[in-house]
Amino acid sequence: MTTRYRVEYALKSHRRDAFIEWIKGLLAGPFVLHSEPAAYIKEVSTWEDTTATVRKLYASVMADVESLVIDQIENQANNTPELAKLGYLVPTVGTFFTTLPLVDAFYVQDAKRSISCRRLVSPSFNDIRLILNTAQIMSMTSTQEKLRLVTLDGDVTLYEDGKSLTPDNPVIACLLGLLKRDIAVGIVTAAGYPDTSGNRYKERLSGIIEAVADSSDLSENQKRKLLVMGGESNYLFRYSVTDQTLVYVDTNEWILDEMQLWNDTVMQELLDLAEEVIFSCKQVMNLNGEVIRKDRAVGIVPIEGKKMIREDLEEVVLGVQRRLENSPCGKKVQFCAFNGGSDVWVDVGDKRLGVRALQNYLGGIHGHETLHVGDQFASVGANDFKARLAACTVWVADPGETVEALTELCGYWEKAGEKL
Ligand code: IMP
Ligand code: MG
Repeated sequence: MTTRYRVEYALKSHRRDAFIEWIKGLLAGPFVLHSEPAAYIKEVSTWEDTTATVRKLYASVMADVESLVIDQIENQANNTPELAKLGYLVPTVGTFFTTLPLVDAFYVQDAKRSISCRRLVSPSFNDIRLILNTAQIMSMTSTQEKLRLVTLDGDVTLYEDGKSLTPDNPVIACLLGLLKRDIAVGIVTAAGYPDTSGNRYKERLSGIIEAVADSSDLSENQKRKLLVMGGESNYLFRYSVTDQTLVYVDTNEWILDEMQLWNDTVMQELLDLAEEVIFSCKQVMNLNGEVIRKDRAVGIVPIEGKKMIREDLEEVVLGVQRRLENSPCGKKVQFCAFNGGSDVWVDVGDKRLGVRALQNYLGGIHGHETLHVGDQFASVGANDFKARLAACTVWVADPGETVEALTELCGYWEKAGEKL
C-alpha cells in the first residue's frame, strides 16, 4: 500500500523548496514552545517579553544556519561534499556562491514583517524566502563582493504575466540605477521569438529600451550593458547606441561549448517527442489548449476565452519531463519543461545556460558576481530554478517585490556612501 509519506512526496515534492522548508521546521520549535493561545482572549502582560525571547531564539537558529552555509561553501571549495553538514541535513541543497548574513537579514525582515511578535502564526515560507533574499542582497553589497551582472526574468518578475514592460513601470528606474553603477542588466526570459529583427522583444520591453535611449545620464558603455536573452538561452540581443534599440547578436559570438554539441536533428527530435506527449495529454485530459511548435520550443496555450487548471498544467509538465528525461535525445540536449501559470512550455536550453552565456559574453563574470531575480524556483516545472546553478538568486512573488529587492540593493550601497 502506498504510504502517506510517498503520497505527499509524489504529489508535492516538486512544489517545495527543501532548504526553506527545513529552516521553517527549525523555527517552528521556538514558535510552538512560546505560542500564546490566550493572548487574544485576555490581557497577557508577558507579550513583549515573549517577543524578545522568541526573537533571540529565531536569531540563534539563523546564526547556526549561517555557520552551516559557511561550512557548505568550504566543503564545496575543498571538493569534500560528503563532509558538509548542510548537504547531509538537506540533500537537495544547491551551490552557494556567497556566504549569507542570515542573522542581520532576519532582523531586517522581522522589523518589516513582525515575525517574532506573532503568537498564533508561525514563520512562513514567505517569511523565510524574504529573509534569504535580504541575506543574498546584503552579501552582494558587502565589501568582499562585486556585483557585475543582474539577470532578470520577464513574466511575473519585471511585469505581470503575459504583459509588457511599459514606460510607467517603476522597475525602470531601478534598472537604470544598476546600469549607472556599471552593472550589466540581462533580461533572461523563456519567451522565445526567433525573428532576428527582435521586434516582439522591442515591443514587450519598450519601456526600458526607450528609457535607455533617452537617458543623458548613462554613458555609451553603460547603455551597451543592456542585454536580452530570449527563449531561455536561444536568442541574444544587445542595446546598440547607433541604432538606439536592441540588435541581434550572432550565435557564434556567445554560444557555449556545451551547446555547440547539439545539432539541429537532435533538438528537433527532442521537440517532436515533447510535442507528442503534450498532444496526447491534451487528448486524454480534454484540455482547452492549442499546441504550438516553434523553432526551439513547443508549448500548449489556452484556447481564447478558455482556461486550463493548475493541476492539469502540472500533470503535463511532470509527464513531459519524465518522458524526455528517459529518452536518448533528452540525455543529449538540455531542456526546460515548465508551467507558465496559464500554459506549459518545453524549451531547448535553460536559464543556467542563458545566464552562463551572458557571463561569458561579458568577458567572464563569475557566479558570485551575478544575481538572478526570478519568480519560478520550484525544483520541477519552473524555469528560473536552473539559474541557481550559475548565479546567486532572489526569489520574488510579483513585480512589486522585484522593485523592492532592487531598491533594497541600491539602498545598501547608498548607505555605505558609494560614489556614483
Ligand atoms: P519568463 O517568465 O519571462 O521566463 O516567460 C515565461 C512565459 O513566456 C511563459 O509563461 C509563456 O507564457 C511565455 N512564452 C512565450 N513564448 C515562449 C516560448 O517559446 N517558450 C517558453 N515560454 C514562452
Ligand atoms: Mg517568470
